[in-house]
Amino acid sequence: MFAVHLMAFYFSKLKEDQIKKVDRFLYHMRLSDDTLLDIMRRFRAEMEKGLAKDTNPTAAVKMLPTFVRAIPDGSENGEFLSLDLGGSKFRVLKVQVAEEGKRHVQMESQFYPTPNEIIRGNGTELFEYVADCLADFMKTKDLKHKKLPLGLTFSFPCRQTKLEEGVLLSWTKKFKARGVQDTDVVSHLTKAMRRHKDMDVDILALVNDTVGTMMTCAYDDPYCEVGVIIGTGSNACYMEDMSNIDLVEGDEGRMCINTEWGAFGDDGALGDIRTEFDRELDLGSLNPGKQLFEKMISGLYLGELVRLILLKMAKAGLLFGGEKSSALHTKGKIETRHVAAMEKYKEGLANTREILVDLGLEPSEADCIAVQHVCTIVSFRSANLCAAALAAILTRLRENKKVERLRTTVGMDGTLYKIHPQYPKRLHKVVRKLVPSCDVRFLLSESGSTKGAAMVTAVASRVQAQRKQIDRVLALFQLTREQLVDVQAKMRAELEYGLKKKSHGLATVRMLPTYVCGLPDGTEKGKFLALDLGGTNFRVLLVKIRSGRRSVRMYNKIFAIPLEIMQGTGEELFDHIVQCIADFLDYMGLKGASLPLGFTFSFPCRQMSIDKGTLIGWTKGFKATDCEGEDVVDMLREAIKRRNEFDLDIVAVVNDTVGTMMTCGYEDPNCEIGLIAGTGSNMCYMEDMRNIEMVEGGEGKMCINTEWGGFGDNGCIDDIRTRYDTEVDEGSLNPGKQRYEKMTSGMYLGEIVRQILIDLTKQGLLFRGQISERLRTRGIFETKFLSQIESDRLALLQVRRILQQLGLDSTCEDSIVVKEVCGAVSRRAAQLCGAGLAAIVEKRREDQGLEHLRITVGVDGTLYKLHPHFSRILQETVKKLAPRCDVTFMLSEDGSGKGAALITAVAKRLQQAQKEN
Ligand code: BG6
Ligand code: BG6
Ligand code: GLC
Ligand code: GLC
Repeated sequence: MFAVHLMAFYFSKLKEDQIKKVDRFLYHMRLSDDTLLDIMRRFRAEMEKGLAKDTNPTAAVKMLPTFVRAIPDGSENGEFLSLDLGGSKFRVLKVQVAEEGKRHVQMESQFYPTPNEIIRGNGTELFEYVADCLADFMKTKDLKHKKLPLGLTFSFPCRQTKLEEGVLLSWTKKFKARGVQDTDVVSHLTKAMRRHKDMDVDILALVNDTVGTMMTCAYDDPYCEVGVIIGTGSNACYMEDMSNIDLVEGDEGRMCINTEWGAFGDDGALGDIRTEFDRELDLGSLNPGKQLFEKMISGLYLGELVRLILLKMAKAGLLFGGEKSSALHTKGKIETRHVAAMEKYKEGLANTREILVDLGLEPSEADCIAVQHVCTIVSFRSANLCAAALAAILTRLRENKKVERLRTTVGMDGTLYKIHPQYPKRLHKVVRKLVPSCDVRFLLSESGSTKGAAMVTAVASRVQAQRKQIDRVLALFQLTREQLVDVQAKMRAELEYGLKKKSHGLATVRMLPTYVCGLPDGTEKGKFLALDLGGTNFRVLLVKIRSGRRSVRMYNKIFAIPLEIMQGTGEELFDHIVQCIADFLDYMGLKGASLPLGFTFSFPCRQMSIDKGTLIGWTKGFKATDCEGEDVVDMLREAIKRRNEFDLDIVAVVNDTVGTMMTCGYEDPNCEIGLIAGTGSNMCYMEDMRNIEMVEGGEGKMCINTEWGGFGDNGCIDDIRTRYDTEVDEGSLNPGKQRYEKMTSGMYLGEIVRQILIDLTKQGLLFRGQISERLRTRGIFETKFLSQIESDRLALLQVRRILQQLGLDSTCEDSIVVKEVCGAVSRRAAQLCGAGLAAIVEKRREDQGLEHLRITVGVDGTLYKLHPHFSRILQETVKKLAPRCDVTFMLSEDGSGKGAALITAVAKRLQQAQKEN
């Protein structure tokens, strides 16, 4: 009995001595609670540094956005391939998610070796090897005939700009293949897979192992929002609020951030904590100076740290009687599994002896106790450091959520965490001590990170399918060159048709003579009134033209025309116009003055002279009764009479295209075309009299108002009209009419966009499938909104804000789609308009028998002026379709009122001359 006691006493004394000895030797590795709290604070600062745009480039902890935006919600399904590369084992898997509506995942997998010559050789060969393994797997599992999406778990730091791409920042751990750093890993693998002609695999997602782990665990526990790996390497990811992620546009919801905490300290932030052993280990590693935090923690390094310590202690005579074996001198001889075995609860000491003997040492009882304690200190430090960093993440999560207590789950994986007997317990305990305000559940990922990667792939594959649906819709608006050439040819044919006496009456492009026979020559002068009705604004103007100097002074006032007047009776409309004139005269102090007036009336009128115009039919947003078939000049005169306050001499009625051509022609005599791309769409040009069969005389030229908006009303461009165009047409004031205008002008583009958005929403591709009242409202997308949405200078958030102003509650993804839809619709409009214009310039060139034509087009209209791309695309199209015409586009700065006044001046002069004769 006594002997037993003595033995026990002796042993505990021995143990105490050894422990003291080691503690003294490794005091620097034992971290106090205060130190841990300090590390936790430092890591929090590092996270912020990595998240902010300005500081990210120099941050050691890179905080990489992963483009994984949500944890699984159970709706994921499908069959996927998966690769898991970068941990201690390389695996290829087939994952079946949620078969027959059950929340259930089935996996089949195969391990493949990763020899050093492959993982540290040539990058191309590495990926070819990976592709070969995949091919082998598919062959064994009889999957080669299937087209399967693949999720790649790649456990290295990658900078991602989307889910299916990742640029390797640097190799870590055991890998160091040449020619991969700074390149996209997915492209490498895709290229390598192309060598296997019988394999049809689409890589949809690249995920870090931490992300895979978090997703794996989140499939079973929806509270899981953190993933931690303590294996060969060490790292963590967590769900961060989008509003805190500077590097990704958008502020809605959350995104998983791969912290790459292994690099914590690479900028010297842990200098005071690292020991001489850490420094030595680092120097002998594949990546000196890098992953300094990881090198204090993870499985690849723990054994080596122990070896370096034992060697030093032996050298100092503190172990093995000062003896060292050659194995103890050899790098890598002690591995993490050895450390784990030595720390085993009961057999630990026996294991230690065995391991030391295997290393060629002759350990005493005391040595074994000391060595065991070295292991404990090293692995304890690892758990402490991990706990500190994890505590920082948990605190951030709690603060992001603005809650007192955080209930959360951390998904865990990695061999060190799994095989080390004490590790999990220690880690959990320290975390709970450091963040007492968090109720943390640690959930071990039983099935590795692949299950989670499959969830990510499942979501990606759903997104891809939806993308295809969206692309199918947008494709309807993409016109080929052949289609545009065809439009040009058809427009050309219609122009000719409208000029001929026989066909003129039936023509859809009406080709209306305007009785404007020449451009201003600079001799015009006088004071004129002008009206400008039919565009976005109704304006009354006073125009003073001074001869000789080609200078014009204008005063104008914009008046509103309420909808009920635009669509009321003709009398009401013209009374309102006269009321506005009276206001203007009053405002200008011209009451009672009788001035000549030019009336810009932007609707199709049949003219028999310059001062007579019978309205053929309303277009755009007007539909006042009792006007069609009437002379609008008479209607205006009668309204003036009804008012009986002033008299005006209405000299000319002018289409806005004609007014625009004249405005520009005053400055550039080469301007023989007027184009409006605004609320409506139309064009006029100077035609040789000999070609105008409806008007007598063969000398000189006359301006023809083409009214090309009606192009296609006979069905000739139905092949390029979409169901959305039909919808817009049917909902308009003039169904079946102005089909070309409805595809090209401001008043309708927004409506087409709205129809597409409604359809995409119905298909569940937008606005969470909810069609809001606002989206049902006609006319919400005015030209100015389209122009804003498409502006390149606008960030996504601003687009979203515009949509919100319009009452459309959109996510950032929605905003991207809306912008694309606007782009497709406006692009087609510009191209169609360009094809029309190409038809006219080519006609003019051919009519004059010219090799090359130089001509100026005077342009006006909000679409042309405000839209960021319309004018450019229009011009490019003309250039492509009419390469032999040198077309200059001249923006009309002063509106068509000026032109109308110039026409009035000329007409007045002619009137005068006639009277005098
Ligand atoms: C596995 C995961 O379970 O754990 C891998 O599937 C991960 O994706 C690995 O890399 C990490 O642990 P270790 O110890 O293998 O590096
Ligand atoms: C204005 C002209 O500048 O542009 C009007 O003065 C013309 O006559 C108008 O109708 C066309 O553009 P929008 O976009 O206002 O229809
Ligand atoms: C290394 C890698 C990291 C990975 C971790 C765990 O730290 O850089 O991406 O998550 O190892 O495998
Ligand atoms: C409509 C009108 C036309 C006008 C054009 C531009 O197409 O019918 O006359 O020129 O809009 O405002």
